Amino acid sequence: MMKTTAPPRFNLFNRAHKAIRALLCNTLLQVQKTDFTSPDATGCVAGIRLSLEVLQEHAYLEDHFIFPLLQSNAPSLAAFFEKQHHQDELLTQDVEAALTGFESASGEQEQLLTGIVILEQYAGFVAFNLSHMNMEEQLINPFLWTLYSDAELVQRVTEALQKAPPAHDDLLLRLMIENQNSRELAAWFAAMGPEATENLNARLSAAGV
Ligand SMILES: [Fe+2]
Ligand SMILES: [Fe+2]
Repeated sequence: MMKTTAPPRFNLFNRAHKAIRALLCNTLLQVQKTDFTSPDATGCVAGIRLSLEVLQEHAYLEDHFIFPLLQSNAPSLAAFFEKQHHQDELLTQDVEAALTGFESASGEQEQLLTGIVILEQYAGFVAFNLSHMNMEEQLINPFLWTLYSDAELVQRVTEALQKAPPAHDDLLLRLMIENQNSRELAAWFAAMGPEATENLNARLSAAGV
């Protein structure tokens, strides 16, 4: 008898998490290649701050649009991930403190030493978030799939992106497009329709992100 395999369900984290993984990993590579006594350090610090802001916006969307889906049926799961976001805020503060330490450094030796602290803190932040995103997908998705259809989950993500006004939504959209595989992109654009896809490309070109 032929074994039938059900197609994968809709992973409502997928696009955003792929975009964020790319942003975090690329920024981490930039940090470890930066000579903190050189002018490159300014751009590197700006890149780190940008990634922290994007992560905060992502956590805001999850706190307000995704975790409430768990509240009535799995409050302990919602509480666990809210706590994870709190831990993430503490790690963000540690990275910010490392950046401030670098910016107030006087002389090359201090710049080198504070640059090492930036790398250590940022690597910890990236490691936490890679693990955190995996846990969100592994623990929250199966629960949502028992309660909601794919169409309802797609609707929820669309609402989240429309209602919340993240400051870096054009950047995030660009990262989402650049970091999906070709099959995912084709399905996404097909679902949007040709006109919406064209509008999206025009918007991103105009934004220059
Ligand atoms: Fe999260
Ligand atoms: Fe997430």
